[in-house]
Amino acid sequence: MPRALVTRKLPSSVISKLEAACDVDLYVGSAAISRDELLQRVKGVDAIVCLLTDTIDAAVLDAAGPQLKIVANVAVGYNNIDVPACRARNIAVTNTPDVLTNACADFTWGLILAMTRRLGEGERVVRAGAWGGWALDYMLGMELRGKQLGLVGLGRIGRAVAEKAPAFGMSVAYTARKPADIPGATHMTLDRLLATSDVVSLHCPMTPKTKHLIDQKALTRMKRTAYLINTSRGPVVDEGALAWALRERLIAGAALDVYENEPEIHAGLMTLENVMLIPHLASATTETRTAMADLATANAVAVLNGQPPLTPVP
Ligand code: DGY
Repeated sequence: MPRALVTRKLPSSVISKLEAACDVDLYVGSAAISRDELLQRVKGVDAIVCLLTDTIDAAVLDAAGPQLKIVANVAVGYNNIDVPACRARNIAVTNTPDVLTNACADFTWGLILAMTRRLGEGERVVRAGAWGGWALDYMLGMELRGKQLGLVGLGRIGRAVAEKAPAFGMSVAYTARKPADIPGATHMTLDRLLATSDVVSLHCPMTPKTKHLIDQKALTRMKRTAYLINTSRGPVVDEGALAWALRERLIAGAALDVYENEPEIHAGLMTLENVMLIPHLASATTETRTAMADLATANAVAVLNGQPPLTPVP
């Protein structure tokens, strides 16, 4: 019987399917598996079902041994996995596209609405007992109708976000390698998108090219009235530069779901009112997380049965 390491508790219905195909070693700690524990438990396994909190690099692959056939990530992003190192060892790498697109797009709109209408700030005032009552000019936000949504990256999630823009009366601009067939959406350079958008939402993968794509220079290009939304990966934004831009009011606000060093958050962001800080929840619905776990384990089962993976990383 082949062996699989699952690095975090997954729904039991999903584990049962995996157990039908292999012996499962399930790590059930309350936090992410430690590096030492991962290096120990990975020895001799044929499949690793891992999460975005696990760094799967050459050292882990070597600790596992030459029988390792697949690394199945329970996430659409796979910047935690050294894909070239896997390829060099003939190990399949899979992610979980599509099943989380809708949840992440809905969530992005949740952040856009919450940020532009100051919901986090308002809730903090109420909980602090500091609300003095209704006033005509109190805590005014920005209306979305007639504004431009700038999408940096137009993969599945970016497209799903774009599709919902007409419902809020927003026009869409986007950056992408090639112009896409989205009616009414305008393809732009990043510079132009930053300079003209009222809401900039990040949907690009984390690669060496996109690390700190939104840095001090990019932030100074944005309108002073604009908002930044990040549900992609933390390192796409230079958090120090963002804290500075928010403090100096060079942009109106930001809503972040992801961070450079999760779960650490840049100290400069923690005290600001014009930023919403959310603990990496974009795909966090019961339905979506179950579907992600299901797809990751289905990938592992397929490869262990000698079939091609269902959703190999591109
Ligand atoms: C992903 O799948 O990459 C998401 O960040 C998980 O929420």
